[in-house]
Order: sequence, then structure tokens, then C-alpha cells
Amino acid sequence: MKSTRTRLDRFMSQHLGIKRQKIRLLLAQGRIVVDGCIAGDAQQTIHQFSHVIFDEQVLQDHKPYYVMMNKPKGVVSATKDQHHKTVIDLLKRKNCHTLHIAGRLDFNSTGLILLTNDGRWSRELSIPENKIYKCYRIEVEKPLDESYIRAFSQGIYFNYEGITTRPAALNIISSHICEVSLTEGRYHQIKRMFGQFQNKVLELHRLSVGNLSLDRHLLPGQSRELSKIEINTICRTEGRIN
Ligand code: URA
Repeated sequence: MKSTRTRLDRFMSQHLGIKRQKIRLLLAQGRIVVDGCIAGDAQQTIHQFSHVIFDEQVLQDHKPYYVMMNKPKGVVSATKDQHHKTVIDLLKRKNCHTLHIAGRLDFNSTGLILLTNDGRWSRELSIPENKIYKCYRIEVEKPLDESYIRAFSQGIYFNYEGITTRPAALNIISSHICEVSLTEGRYHQIKRMFGQFQNKVLELHRLSVGNLSLDRHLLPGQSRELSKIEINTICRTEGRIN
């Protein structure tokens, strides 16, 4: 994803169409306001959501959005699709076309999906080293046993990429149902992990991402904005044992 950070002088010169050297004069005259403060440093970092005013004219005023949806089956995790409904089509709110998906789910997978226009936030969620666990409830075709727990925790080798998956926790709930927690999001990862056992995934439902669980009041297809607390605590790892 393209960087959304730039220096103030570069930002101003792009917006006003004047040379960067001239920006220093505007700064000295106190004509540029960033996030409510008169700017003085040409090297100040401007990010996607910095509020920038020049001579009382608003140059940038983007609001960050963070949305959770209960994804139904038969909907594509994409912003556009020629043949099927997408999660963006289901949103039906203004600005929805500025959002991107933070962690896709397959066409027939269901549950928690996050959408945002904040690239930094979604990147944080996807970096395996950050240990943001995504937890899924899964129903499979054939009975489960202890060997799955061992294999998932040791990692499973994917021939195509030549990699071994990071340790994943598998908790058997009943003969054909389990919960799996993992920190990666490779293409069809869980289906391929069960594929090594020739065991087909019948249902795959995402329950949580980090500290954020799917709101049980959301029916399939429904969505809501995240609260400030949810946005800020989703990645928090204090107190976790891993
Ligand atoms: N793993 C899969 O195989 N599918 C999903 O939708 C999510 C994780």
C-alpha cells in the first residue's frame, strides 16, 4: 500500500503548486495550521488524517473510519466484483468506497470482517510478528483427533510457497467442530491446513481479531463502526501468554 506520510513542505508544495523553499516563508508567517497548532517545522510529518489549514482554507480533512461487519456467505471480500456482491456493497454508507478490507475471508466464510481507510491500522493487524490472533470456529467433514492439535502447533508445510505455517492453536470442541487461532492470513490458509489431512472445511466463521470479538447483535450482512476503545485495544498484547 502506498505510503500516506509525507513532510509538511512537500505536502504544501503539492497542494499550493509552489516551490518547497517558499513554504518556509509561509511557515514563518504562521499561515499554516496542522491539527489545531500553527506549524513551524517544514519537516513535520503529515499523515493521512492530519488536519491542515492554510489561510483559513482547509487543505485536508479526512476522518478515519473503522467498521466491523458480520460477513454472510456468498459475498466477496473485495471492493469490486463483476459477478457477486462485495462486502463494500453491503455497507451502504457514505465514504464506503474509500475503505479497504483488513483481512479477507473466503466467499463462503462468515463472521468478523474489518474495513477501514486507515492503512497503518490495517497493516498493524496483518503483521504476524505483532501476534494478533485471528480466531475461527470451523466445522470439518471428518472427525478430529489429537494429531491435528500437534500438527497445527508445529506448523504445516505449504509446498507451493515453500514455507511452514506459524504455530496455530487448535481446540477441539466436538467430533467435527474446533476453534483455530493463528497470526497469519495466507491464501485459503485454514482450508489448506486441513487439506493436509484430506479433511474438508464445511463451515468457517471468524469469531475475533486480536481483542475484538464479533458483536453478537450484528446479523449476517450488518455492520457498525468501532468504538474508540475497540480501535485502540484490538492490538493490545499486555498480559497475553505467548
Ligand atoms: N482461512 C481460510 O481458508 N479461509 C478463510 O476465509 C479464512 C482463513
